[in-house]
Amino acid sequence: MNLFDVYSLWNIEPVRAKGCKVWDKDGTEYLDFYGGHAVISIGHSHPVYVKAIQDQVEKIGFYSNSVLNSLQTKLAEKLGEQSGYPDYSLFLCNSGAEANENALKLASFHTGKKRIVAFRESFHGRTSGAVAITDNPSINSPFNTGHEVVFVPLNDIDAVTKELEKGDIAAVIIEGIQGVSGIFVPENEFLQQLEIVCKKHDVVLILDEIQSGYGRTGKFFSHQYAGIKPDIISMAKGMGNGFPIGGILISPKFEAKKGMLGTTFGGNHLACSAAIAVLDVMKDESLIKNAAKMGDYLKNELSKCHATKEIRGLGLMLGVDLKPEFADLRNKLLFESHIFTGGAKNNVMRLLPPLSISKEEVDIFIEELKKKVEIRK
Ligand SMILES: Cc1ncc(COP(=O)(O)O)c(C=O)c1O
Repeated sequence: MNLFDVYSLWNIEPVRAKGCKVWDKDGTEYLDFYGGHAVISIGHSHPVYVKAIQDQVEKIGFYSNSVLNSLQTKLAEKLGEQSGYPDYSLFLCNSGAEANENALKLASFHTGKKRIVAFRESFHGRTSGAVAITDNPSINSPFNTGHEVVFVPLNDIDAVTKELEKGDIAAVIIEGIQGVSGIFVPENEFLQQLEIVCKKHDVVLILDEIQSGYGRTGKFFSHQYAGIKPDIISMAKGMGNGFPIGGILISPKFEAKKGMLGTTFGGNHLACSAAIAVLDVMKDESLIKNAAKMGDYLKNELSKCHATKEIRGLGLMLGVDLKPEFADLRNKLLFESHIFTGGAKNNVMRLLPPLSISKEEVDIFIEELKKKVEIRK
């Protein structure tokens, strides 16, 4: 049997990883400035994480959501405390798209409405509702296009307000930082106005923090830079450091009803033990602080690089907008310097290293970059 051929692949096969380093099957060492697509938060194969999963699988790996599982309550307590949302509740699932799907469903149940406001250039996942609110017609099949969605420009509060005034909107969904489109940070003032206008019209505000959350930007969630409190927050990626887990944080104003949401695998023992280990390591090693510090340092060093037009983003979620003549820089970094980076549309290099990255590792990245392009002293 062949694999269904939907991915463009680099001809590299990682077989081992530790911290911010990855080794391929020939033993070549790579520096990880991509984090497996913003997924690796506490670093690859962290001993606390490895032990937690090993110990758990020896006890019980899975049962079902029809019995008690105190690992779920332990995770919810730690997450509430560390994220600054102790009064919100947690629904667990398995991926980012699924988290958004549940957020949309909950907003629709709550308001009795179904039209959604999303933003141009957004990415929210590939399942039916999540892809319908993704501004990319090429990944929407005819089956997905039955949803009622309007896309408005980012940072345009008048365009949002105009839609909300029509009275038929269930939710506004926005990425904490637009990732796939090339790292675009919503303005703080825009987010503050968005919160006000959603409240005024009884519209649910959903913050998709799947890529920008879990400490990546130097705060637990990137919307916390604007001081707002959304109604629902979706999470995944960094939450399990590679173990598939996602979830939504839900404001106390939503009433849970039995059977309203559900999943077979969501919140299983192994996923919870991985996610608890992630939160413990993030706290014990002050990784959010490290993300803020290393992000500032990296941004400052990058600002001296003449290959860049603009550097966008916060903490360790950075978009380096490259001049057209440096379009092959990512390939050079990968195949000559052995450094993984992420890509995005229009020549943007996305830097999404583990939150545990050290200054020495940032310096190696900058040194290798210097070899490929001229950098001012
Ligand atoms: C902002 C955002 N939302 C949703 C998703 C979808 O997550 P998943 O691939 O886990 O379904 C992604 C994935 O890249 C994302 O970046």
